[in-house]
Amino acid sequence: MPDTLSITDNRTGKTYEVPITDGTIHAIDLRQIKTSPDDFGIMSYDPAFTNTASCRSAITYIDGDRGILEYRGYPIEQLAERSTYLETAYLIVYGKLPTQRELDEWTHNITYHTFVHENIKKFLEGFRYDAHPMGMLVGTIGALSTFYPDARHVLDAESREVQTHRLIAKVPTLAAFAYRHNRGMPFVYPDNELSFCGNFLSMLWKMSESKYRPDPVLERAVNVLFILHADHEQNCSANAMRSVASSRSDPYSATAAAAAALYGPLHGGANEEVLHMLAEIGDKKRVPEFVKKFKSGEGRLMGFGHRVYKNYDPRAKIIKRTADEVFDLVGRNPMLDIALELERIALEDEYFIERKLYPNVDFYSGIIYQALGFPVEMFPVLFAIPRTSGWVAQWREMITDPEQKIARPRQIYTGGRGIDYVPMEQRKTAPAAEAVAAPR
Ligand code: CMC
Repeated sequence: MPDTLSITDNRTGKTYEVPITDGTIHAIDLRQIKTSPDDFGIMSYDPAFTNTASCRSAITYIDGDRGILEYRGYPIEQLAERSTYLETAYLIVYGKLPTQRELDEWTHNITYHTFVHENIKKFLEGFRYDAHPMGMLVGTIGALSTFYPDARHVLDAESREVQTHRLIAKVPTLAAFAYRHNRGMPFVYPDNELSFCGNFLSMLWKMSESKYRPDPVLERAVNVLFILHADHEQNCSANAMRSVASSRSDPYSATAAAAAALYGPLHGGANEEVLHMLAEIGDKKRVPEFVKKFKSGEGRLMGFGHRVYKNYDPRAKIIKRTADEVFDLVGRNPMLDIALELERIALEDEYFIERKLYPNVDFYSGIIYQALGFPVEMFPVLFAIPRTSGWVAQWREMITDPEQKIARPRQIYTGGRGIDYVPMEQRKTAPAAEAVAAPR
């Protein structure tokens, strides 16, 4: 049987053969289907890309029905147990696990770039004391492009290499500075003798001690959380990264756009929303009442549901285990009981079963972050730090893919056409655009 799809256009009675490759048809092949020579041809309509592959990618594999997540073919469970964030970032960016020498060199290159230009501090100081740290992060990542004008040479592999190191290294520094500004605390410079995650904790929490020594359990927990958040194939922010960078803008501007996409409550901002929701519920006893509300469309059960996973998000399972280790050290977050009850009731409920809504990565991550002492506004920032390696990998893959071009979707135009300009004095009460829209 040939790998083709036969399409009969009932308007004309003509049949077309369209090749099927990797389970997909090329949308451009539909354009040959016309009713007359001057017909534009058929387009596919897919708002929110629910059934459109926008690229070929070898970075992250997800089987949403079976709850499988792999980076470069390596199961997330093994990486979370045995790898470090920095090693996983190497894997995601370069497609292979590093040898010891490669890892040492990578670690050196990242560590070398952890400092940010002193002027960045001035940017941060310009924000109001209560500015959301994610807003500060988005702004300062974008500002980095002004410090590294060489970054615009996106077709130069050597330049991409340097920007890769800078981005992965500097985002934690910007994040920690945003946190310290938000708390009214002095900035702490990177300590390059510490590990990637240890240094991040030092920049957050170092006070007057001459050397901050991260607790190994916390350092490990941060490594695990960072590994779990490092990439997730073509999600909203990865798509923003690719889309913006497809115009060949520099990677700092594109990463700022990706971080902005992550900020939204349906994406990386969901972990923050989960905690607001749990605080609003306030007591285990009130869970059924809230579940009822979510079912009636009054708000959403944040941290539940996923476009791709129609099964338990594998990251949520690992996070639940990490939570126990953290709680043993810092004490149990009382929100956990409400979350567990919420999960129990939702997973038994027809509404959630039918729609295959399970806890996602954001459901338990915020509970750990809060137990670690982070204010809720920092949660999306903590997501953005590790996701930077994913964004960078997506960018590098996109820019070297000969099939990619500037991202530019089509539309179905629904507005009016050729309407003559009306002088101000002749205008009555402004009619809505739709009301005057008359097809020509
Ligand atoms: N609570 C209640 N109902 C829900 C939820 C939820 N969290 N999620 C989806 N539904 C319902 C939705 O109302 C719809 O019902 P119906 O068919 O009756 O209209 C059905 O399930 C399908 O939902 P959808 O909005 O078409 O699904 P989607 O694939 O477009 O959205 C989602 C995926 C993640 C945006 C959505 O599940 C959601 O809003 N979840 C809450 C926010 C959240 O936790 N986001 C984090 C996602 S994971 C990490 C990340 O991406 O950063």
